Amino acid sequence: MDLISIDDLSDAQVEWILDRAVRLHQGRHQVGGLKGRIVFNLFYEASTRTLMSFATAAHRLGATAITLPVEQSSVRKGETLDDTARTLDAMRPDAVVIRHRENGSASSAAAIMACPVINAGDGTNEHPTQALLDAATMRQRVGRIDGLKIAICGDIKHSRVARSNAKLLPRLGAEVRLAGPPELMPESGACLSVDEAIAGADIVMMLRVQRERLDQEFGDAPGEYLRLYGLTDERLARAAPGALVMHPGPMNRGVEIDSAIADDAARSLINLQVAMGVATRMACLEMLLA
Ligand code: NCD
Repeated sequence: MDLISIDDLSDAQVEWILDRAVRLHQGRHQVGGLKGRIVFNLFYEASTRTLMSFATAAHRLGATAITLPVEQSSVRKGETLDDTARTLDAMRPDAVVIRHRENGSASSAAAIMACPVINAGDGTNEHPTQALLDAATMRQRVGRIDGLKIAICGDIKHSRVARSNAKLLPRLGAEVRLAGPPELMPESGACLSVDEAIAGADIVMMLRVQRERLDQEFGDAPGEYLRLYGLTDERLARAAPGALVMHPGPMNRGVEIDSAIADDAARSLINLQVAMGVATRMACLEMLLA
């Protein structure tokens, strides 16, 4: 089985991953079950959290993670993704984790490779393990997802995180509200303002403006984005009492989120998201390699 999209998972599999991730995070577990297994990391786009947490997850399970330094690989000599996938497949890894700028790239690689392939972000399409770790973070901190009102705000148009979360969270009983600057919203769908989305929300998840995917500059005047669309104390005051703040990272402090809010340990789940990322990826590797 591959993990390319949230749609690849049954409700029972989602439940298993979330439950297992929370247990692994809380330390009530047996690990080391993947001794001798090999996980390849193939990252064509920049990454800190996703790359390092997959590697850490593999090691914690007793597996070995090997990362291809893409910049120094035959990719520089013009090798296609398909040929790289065929080459790596011939080495018989036990799993491959791939991030690539093109939508559909993970699924093309999966069609070539015999082992499970995990999509760690394909263009603007999906990033299923991020959505799973976000859900696991809510489980860990709030105890439930059912009934939560979740505002996801920012560059929705280019966000694979938003797309995977918009599939996963409603399946778990949450109400998801997507909002952002009109220029950064997908063409289809009702458009809420950020203020409307945040009103009464239990969770406010902010997203980075994906400048690397934009053709033109957007909201670059200092302070402009924060004032119009970012998470400020004033906006957060419209959320439900005790509302919690999330961000997949990397953050642009002072752009989509006020720096003090990001660092407010009482409200910000950003570091917990990173911790749950390791546990969630452990759970995913266990499920796919079992
Ligand atoms: C996200 C991504 O790469 O899609 N980062 C991540 O995996 N935590 C979000 C982003 O780059 O803004």
